[in-house]
Order: sequence, then C-alpha cells, then structure tokens
Amino acid sequence: MEKTTQMYEGKAKKVFATNDPDYCIVSYKDDATAFNGLKKGTILGKGAINNRVTNHLMKLLEQNGVPTHFVEELNDRETVVKRVTIVPLEVIVRNIAAGSLSKRLGLPEGVKMKRTVLEYCYKDDDLGDPMVNDYHILAMEWATREELDQIAAYAFKINQLLTDYLKEAGIELIDFKLEFGKTSDGAIVLADEISPDTCRFWDIATHEKLDKDRFRRDLGGVEDAYKEILKRLLGE
Ligand code: TMP
Repeated sequence: MEKTTQMYEGKAKKVFATNDPDYCIVSYKDDATAFNGLKKGTILGKGAINNRVTNHLMKLLEQNGVPTHFVEELNDRETVVKRVTIVPLEVIVRNIAAGSLSKRLGLPEGVKMKRTVLEYCYKDDDLGDPMVNDYHILAMEWATREELDQIAAYAFKINQLLTDYLKEAGIELIDFKLEFGKTSDGAIVLADEISPDTCRFWDIATHEKLDKDRFRRDLGGVEDAYKEILKRLLGE
C-alpha cells in the first residue's frame, strides 16, 4: 500500500490517503500537546511507542470481538487502517477518579468509582471539547440512538478487556478516551489510538503515573514512563 496525499494533520498524528480508497495510513508523531494545545513539547520516541502499543491493544480487542480500524503495522511509526468517518465524540471511561472528573466533582484522585463512569465530549478544539450527553448527541445528529448504544456497549466491553489485560502487566487502568468511526458499510469500529497519550496508567503497587500526566504536570521521567509501558506490554 502506498501513501498518496496527506488528508489531515492532528496534534499527535498525520493521516494519509492511499492508492486504495478503503484504507488510510496513520503516522504517529513525537509531538505532544496538552490543555487544548496551550502546552507544547516533544516526547522522544513517543510516536513509535504509541503506534506499537495501540496496535498491540487493538489486536487484543479484535480477538475478543471488538471491531477496530486496525489493518497492518507498516513500520515503527506507520499503520494501515480502514478509512472511516470519525464520530465527533471523545468517549471517556473512568474507573478511578482523576483529572477533570476529580476537579469537577471535588473527588481526590485515586478514589474508586462505585460504578464505571461514561462521558462524552464533542470533538471541537475551538469550543474546548465540551462535555455533552445523549440528548445533545441525538439532537445534533452526531450519532443515531442505535450507534450510540453500540458505542457505549463497546466502551464498557473494552474497559473490561483492557482492565483485566493490563492488571497482568501490573498496570491499573484509571481512565481512558476512545474514538469510534463508521466504515463505508455503516459499521461502528474503534478508531484513533489507545496509548499513554489517551489513557491514565498507574503502577498497581506504587500508583506511580506511567502516562501523559507526567508531561501535562511537569513530573519528569516522561520518556521513561512511555518506555516502561512498551516494555510491560510488548516485552521490549
Ligand atoms: P480528563 O480527566 O482530562 O478529562 O481525561 C480523561 C482521559 O482522557 C484521560 O485518560 C486522558 C484522556 N484524554 C485524551 O485522550 N485527550 C484529551 O484531549 C483529554 C483532555 C483527555
């Protein structure tokens, strides 16, 4: 498969068209941003790690009945994915209070939620990705009732599969963000990435942060945290 024109450049990835209209190639960058692009930096090696970690986890999900956009890893940074129309939602799943949920509800970070919490944000940088609910999503026609029910069911299933899998690697899955896409035949599939950029991963024993919060909060040891996740999940 050959890259043709660049279709899109985001904060952490570029997406290229290919000679086959059903497929794209994503290329992961080392660039990092936080707070809607206000904080900018580079995390050396991040692109390759996020590419490999994402593909590893997407394969696990596919094997367990969750359809994804993953097709084939081309090299360290680049992967062939199915061409989809992205549903313009950030789907956030939370097991333990942290980040914006802790701020909003006044819950200390680390408090276990009595039930898994599902949130949606409308993907729009100019608006700062505002939180929305089912009514907004249906009224704005970002998804149908059936599509939203499918997305929620996949999100809970992904949470169970990832929580169990990561536990084996000594990682606690605090929360994470998913994006879904629609293929040309109308199927909802998991898209985007699952990486230390988009998940909170804590060491199960020490609660040390092994994710992008080290960059967001200037905690140091950013590259080492990403390398540690790669090592624990892929053994390298
Ligand atoms: P939050 O606590 O800042 O709302 O983040 C919840 C989860 O979503 C966390 O695992 C980090 C992830 N996330 C993204 O992937 N992209 C974003 O732009 C933001 C704000 C959070």
